[in-house]
Amino acid sequence: MHLVQRLKPRALATFAFAAASLSSAATAQIGSTYCVAAPNSTGSISLISATGSTDVALNDVTLGVSSLPLNQFGLFVTSQTQTFVMNPGGSNGNLCVGGMIGRFNAGIVSSGATGTVSLALDLNAIAAPMGAYSVMPGDTVNFQFWHRDVAAPGFSNLSQGLEIQFDSAPGLTFQNDIYPLLTQPNINAGSCVSCHGGICGLDLSTAQDAYNNLINVESVCCFPDDYVVPGDSTSSVLYQKLGNPTCGSAMPFGGTFAGDPDAVRDWIDAGAPF
Ligand code: HEC
Repeated sequence: MHLVQRLKPRALATFAFAAASLSSAATAQIGSTYCVAAPNSTGSISLISATGSTDVALNDVTLGVSSLPLNQFGLFVTSQTQTFVMNPGGSNGNLCVGGMIGRFNAGIVSSGATGTVSLALDLNAIAAPMGAYSVMPGDTVNFQFWHRDVAAPGFSNLSQGLEIQFDSAPGLTFQNDIYPLLTQPNINAGSCVSCHGGICGLDLSTAQDAYNNLINVESVCCFPDDYVVPGDSTSSVLYQKLGNPTCGSAMPFGGTFAGDPDAVRDWIDAGAPF
């Protein structure tokens, strides 16, 4: 059946999506930026982001910074307190982490020829003045990147702040936690199940059918991505469709999802158990 689907002429957009998805990061974007950054010598602000999972148990968070001046050293700083201090220590930037500020001194890195840096965090060793600590579910931890710059007068700058709210996904299962989200009515649209008795070949009629039709099954309309790739929410069409899909419309079609997309993400990233 999939062979027939593959032979059908497909819109160019579908192929563009396929190409884009190959180069995209394997894991989901997490956290949100806050605070106002000052432009660095490139004219852009230093952009901070994080990928991975907010589930503490998975210990899977990588920080990244881009749009940095080239070949400049810097380090990540962190705290659980947000602040706004202009030009700290004569820097050209603004400090967005306050209180007990930890420095990832072992992670002093150069922005190199690409103007980017990254740091794979160990959630059991978050830097703090009195020694490293372990992140607990419920903690909100803030991060910022402080780096040298060529611009006078301060010759240093800071990225935006990035806030990550950590949680835990204890034993999220498809039948107890996820399938109920697909059977409940949505806002201005019926339940996912009410339409998907076969649209695009996707049959969500019962929990067992839905699970069998989603896990590692290549999507029909968003080919060649799978509906659910256990451990990889970003590559999973089911999760993409609840946000800003690169293929087709956001779901539910014409309405707003009544469930929590983060639950779907966390369930997938935790291995998508039944
Ligand atoms: C009003 C009917 C309707 C509802 C409700 C609806 N869908 Fe859809 N769905 C569609 C249509 C039509 C398409 C095909 C067009 C598109 O992808 O935008 C589709 C496509 C999809 C696809 C892509 C299928 C493929 O093979 O690539 C997924 C995944 C999906 N929907 C999931 C959901 C989920 C999850 C919900 C509930 C949050 C939902 N849908 C609710 C009508 C609906």
